[in-house]
Amino acid sequence: MSGVFLTFEGIEGSGKSTQIRRLSAHLHTCGVDVVLTREPGGTDIGRALRRVLLSTEGEPPHPSTELLLYAADRAQHLSEVIEPALERGAVVLCDRYLDATLAYQGYGRELGVDRVLELHAAPPLDRRPDRTLLIDLDPEDGIARARARNRDLGLEAEEGRFEAEQIRFHQKVRAGYLELAGAEPGRFRLISGDGTEEEVEARVLSAVTDLWPSLREISR
Ligand SMILES: Nc1ncnc2c1ncn2[C@@H]1O[C@H](COP(=O)(O)OP(=O)(O)O)[C@@H](O)[C@H]1O
Ligand SMILES: [Mg+2]
Repeated sequence: MSGVFLTFEGIEGSGKSTQIRRLSAHLHTCGVDVVLTREPGGTDIGRALRRVLLSTEGEPPHPSTELLLYAADRAQHLSEVIEPALERGAVVLCDRYLDATLAYQGYGRELGVDRVLELHAAPPLDRRPDRTLLIDLDPEDGIARARARNRDLGLEAEEGRFEAEQIRFHQKVRAGYLELAGAEPGRFRLISGDGTEEEVEARVLSAVTDLWPSLREISR
């Protein structure tokens, strides 16, 4: 038995966490065995790495350090959470995955896509998602949403490293994501993050109803 591995991608504030929670709840209602997880921070080791990666305090990591810490988080996440869940036939919904490292470290930090892919050539890091939903949004809108959220939740110092980057950085990340999606149209579904949460949700549902036809009832 093999499950389904679905990842959500997009810039800060595009609505990934909001939409993945909604989809997870719908699948749960349909009786699907769902594992909702995220990167970085899907394991105990990963949560320690998340603090290092996203905190605005102290010296920022060198781009190479950043890349290796994301890969370390992912290797643990795959072996401890994702692979065992897929083996038992579960649906794994993951909030950010390899494409985030390609977009942020490969394009944003300009380490290059090849450098990132080389690190992901051997097990456990060679696992690819069955489907990836890229929620696309103008960085001006995404960062405004993300900053307001972090302010409300008091997460600015703890999680604000990328939100504090210049808009130019986020534009590189967005362009990187769009290039990745264009190169793999079979795996990616491009979803506009504009509009209300409900409008985006309807797009998300229609991007996965071929996998779970019972979701069609909800999206009507
Ligand atoms: N379609 C939307 N319109 C307006 N605000 C939204 C929308 N979707 C999410 N938000 C809000 O924007 C903020 C960022 O959304 P979130 O899902 O956390 O984004 P991400 O996980 O991609 O960073 C949250 O405060 C969320 O409530
Ligand atoms: Mg999020």
